[in-house]
Amino acid sequence: MTTESTNAVALHDITVRFGQLTALAGVSLEVPAGQRRAIIGPNGAGKSTLFSVIAGTRRPTGGRVLVDGRDITSLPVHRRVDAGVVTTFQHSSLFLRETVLENVLLAVARRARVAHRWFRPAGAYRDLLDHSATLLARVGLAGREALLAGALSHGERRQLEVAVALAAQPRVLLLDEPAAGMSPAETDRLGQLIRGLPADMTVLLVEHDLDLVFDLADEVTVLHLGEHLATAGVAEIRADENVQHAYLGTADVDELFFEETS
Ligand SMILES: Nc1ncnc2c1ncn2[C@@H]1O[C@H](COP(=O)(O)OP(=O)(O)OP(=O)(O)O)[C@@H](O)[C@H]1O
Ligand SMILES: [Mg+2]
Repeated sequence: MTTESTNAVALHDITVRFGQLTALAGVSLEVPAGQRRAIIGPNGAGKSTLFSVIAGTRRPTGGRVLVDGRDITSLPVHRRVDAGVVTTFQHSSLFLRETVLENVLLAVARRARVAHRWFRPAGAYRDLLDHSATLLARVGLAGREALLAGALSHGERRQLEVAVALAAQPRVLLLDEPAAGMSPAETDRLGQLIRGLPADMTVLLVEHDLDLVFDLADEVTVLHLGEHLATAGVAEIRADENVQHAYLGTADVDELFFEETS
């Protein structure tokens, strides 16, 4: 079943209803392995709901979720994490009263338990610590290990969330607005980090920072009012009038979409 052409993630006709409200109305998507796929759309388009369906925190009202060709629609979150589907959340899920290092160490230790690795009698804990420190350095938090997570700036917390997600060794990584609240320098670093992720890691990115989206994405999917509006390469999405109207409403399209990056 697992062939080269198997998509890392495939959604078939996903519907999510909250009472009368239809947050996702029959959305189908295919994301090839190793792709960087951005999901954009106005507030309330259904982007976070889509992620929760893939990550398993919300069971869809209808439709199927496949990862590597396997139907995981009924799998609980922890089994999906073990299968390599890992998400960061739009709203922080860190342990704010634990240190930066402890936040990552918890995730690293869990992964080690699951993978039955690093449990050599001597030095195992040292290895977990070293790996945690390496992850923190990778996201730009070297030197911040001993701080409480709650003492970090907003942008740094997002970096820490990425480190926690990477600790689970994802095959499919979902990032929900990772650059929200980041300074330009932090956003730059995040971009470099995402660009430097292993080529076989599939990355889905929800992000309102369109410069970051257009810089990173292989393909862009646009959601609007719970519907799939378009999936295409960056140039095509930028040129698509429907996308501009849906995403930007009556805002100044030229200013928002075509601003020269200085
Ligand atoms: N738990 C919930 N209960 C009821 N309605 C919900 C719930 N979660 C989301 N919604 C609604 O579903 C729709 C889609 O929400 P969602 O959070 O997926 O949008 P989004 O595209 O992530 O928006 P944003 O850009 O603001 O994060 C919205 O109308 C939202 O109010
Ligand atoms: Mg959202």
